[in-house]
Amino acid sequence: MATKIDSQTLTFPAIWRHRHLLDLERHSAAELMAILRTAQTLKELTNGCREKLSLLSGKTCANLFFENSTRTRNSFSLAAKRLGADTVEFSSAGSSVAKGETFVDTAKTIEAMGVDWVVTRHFTPGTPHLLARELGVSVLNAGDGPHEHPTQGLLDILTILQSRGREDWEDESLDPEQILAGKTVALVGDIAHSRTARSNLWGLRKLGAHVIICGPPTLVSPRWEELGFEVAHRLDDIVERCDVLNLLRIQFERQYTRPFPSVREYAALYAMNGDRMRRAKPEILIMAPGPINRGVEITPEVADGPHSVILEQVTNGIAVRMASLWLLAGASDAAISGAESPAASVGPDAEEKPNWV
Ligand code: CP
Repeated sequence: MATKIDSQTLTFPAIWRHRHLLDLERHSAAELMAILRTAQTLKELTNGCREKLSLLSGKTCANLFFENSTRTRNSFSLAAKRLGADTVEFSSAGSSVAKGETFVDTAKTIEAMGVDWVVTRHFTPGTPHLLARELGVSVLNAGDGPHEHPTQGLLDILTILQSRGREDWEDESLDPEQILAGKTVALVGDIAHSRTARSNLWGLRKLGAHVIICGPPTLVSPRWEELGFEVAHRLDDIVERCDVLNLLRIQFERQYTRPFPSVREYAALYAMNGDRMRRAKPEILIMAPGPINRGVEITPEVADGPHSVILEQVTNGIAVRMASLWLLAGASDAAISGAESPAASVGPDAEEKPNWV
């Protein structure tokens, strides 16, 4: 399936056969690259995610957010609108959830209004997987507790590819499992409670990067080493080797006890600051999924410095979400019509079994 837009062609990738985007752990490197290349094409076709196309006109995206969000919610909404779709915005605050309506009943109610995708954020791991079984429409995980945040992982990887990837990374003939070979990426901070970390580490490893998981022992399980990741407990031990640092927020709202004596002590050991920048590689890339806490995981001079791509990550969020909505719509349409398209063999239950550890 190829769609002609202006002088460029957007081709539906034959590899993509999924109706839902629930996590990155279950997807192959080739599937991840299909989303990332589509995101890059859509970013270019929309002039940097600023202009509108009509690829998804007539369709509706529902955002069901049971947790706060600035970046994810607004960029899903903008992504849908940039491709011509309508949006429905649901927040649990002010809704009939306060009258006792369940999560699934709430989602089914929104589905009955005639939507095509449900984007959901919830504090409980596995809730998007539950909706994928209960609803007939495509479900996208916008963050399920500390489990995964797949579009965040994808937008982070897209930013790495654009800034530090090999020049020809969009070439479909390349081995997807080697696209990031030779790159060392460290995820630093509150790994235990970070859905961003989980999506990043699965996605990065599938694409060939060397992934270091760095943080206090109370926030980094030794199990990660058993799964083949490098684990470090001092940023000073690894900073000189890293091509990319992704600095994660301490998620106090998910912690029952404080995992270190003080924020000051944490910052002394793990904040990326000017001193550590001077010891890092000259071309180091500084990333943060946001929201950032200045002075905790990153100092202002680094957050606002020339190596920081924090705001590029935000723009890439729209690109990745446009790609996700378009690919899932194509897979759903093919499943419904049984059409002879690359996505025609999509099955309704192909990916709905929860698969997290
Ligand atoms: N990175 C991220 O998920 O940000 P929001 O919580 O603002 O959506």
